[in-house]
Amino acid sequence: MTSDVITFPPDLIDRLRTAHHVVVSTGAGVSQESGIPTFRDSLDGLWEIFDPEQLATLEAFQRQPDLVWGWYEFRRAQVNKCQPNPAHLAIAALAGKVRRLTVITQNVDNLHERAGSKDVIHLHGSLHDPICTYCGQSYTLLAGEPEVGETGGRMPPPKCPSCGGMIRPGIVWFGEMLPEEELERAQAAALHCDVFFSVGTSVVVYPAAALPFIAAEQGACVVQVNTDPTGLDAYASYLLVGKAGEVLPALIAAI
Ligand code: APR
Repeated sequence: MTSDVITFPPDLIDRLRTAHHVVVSTGAGVSQESGIPTFRDSLDGLWEIFDPEQLATLEAFQRQPDLVWGWYEFRRAQVNKCQPNPAHLAIAALAGKVRRLTVITQNVDNLHERAGSKDVIHLHGSLHDPICTYCGQSYTLLAGEPEVGETGGRMPPPKCPSCGGMIRPGIVWFGEMLPEEELERAQAAALHCDVFFSVGTSVVVYPAAALPFIAAEQGACVVQVNTDPTGLDAYASYLLVGKAGEVLPALIAAI
């Protein structure tokens, strides 16, 4: 989908115009056009560069805190250099076009917020909200760019100003539970919405991956926006095949 005008089924547009509650649930694909690698993209996926078991687990952090903290600071610096893309901006604009919008993301970047989306539900945490491993308090990251090397060189994690505990990335690591309140809010939104968008996610990591199926099960209109097929294809009411940064602005403009 490049220069030609994108058209949408009229009944999808009608559904959006009359919907009481729309949910947009995003994955790494929505940030891909901002220059942030996805997890499973064979060309530049993050995991191709690093072995997830080495870095994205509590055990790895306990064993090598400087390496893991350095990698996340490297990723945070990457995100700070990126800009929200037209997909993020279209999702933010959608809030002004529908009665109620809930934005859920598996991403740990802050591009939805920087595009103007409010009250984003982060199911897998955020690069921008580190916490203390001991007292759990949020830690305010130093303003400006972290000093990291190209490959995310080792950096000692800071200490908590309240209790002196070690600060950790505010990320949900493999093997860890998702934040209960965020998951409950996301599941409730999937249960009660009338339109559910699954945007730029391979729908493989649970419990986030269950959300579109919960929505389909209760009769919501499920819309997938993805460049490639996923396990959701057979359950979606609409498959909008293409880049989120091209499809979403055209769809929001058509409402
Ligand atoms: N527009 C739309 N879809 C895109 C685009 C794009 N520009 N670029 C890539 N995609 C699609 C891919 O086809 C793929 O289906 O986005 C999806 C990205 O999938 P993953 O890389 O698996 O990312 P995601 O689904 O967010 O991963 C879920 O897995 O590793 C864990 O915790 C991590 O949150 C992550 C979770």
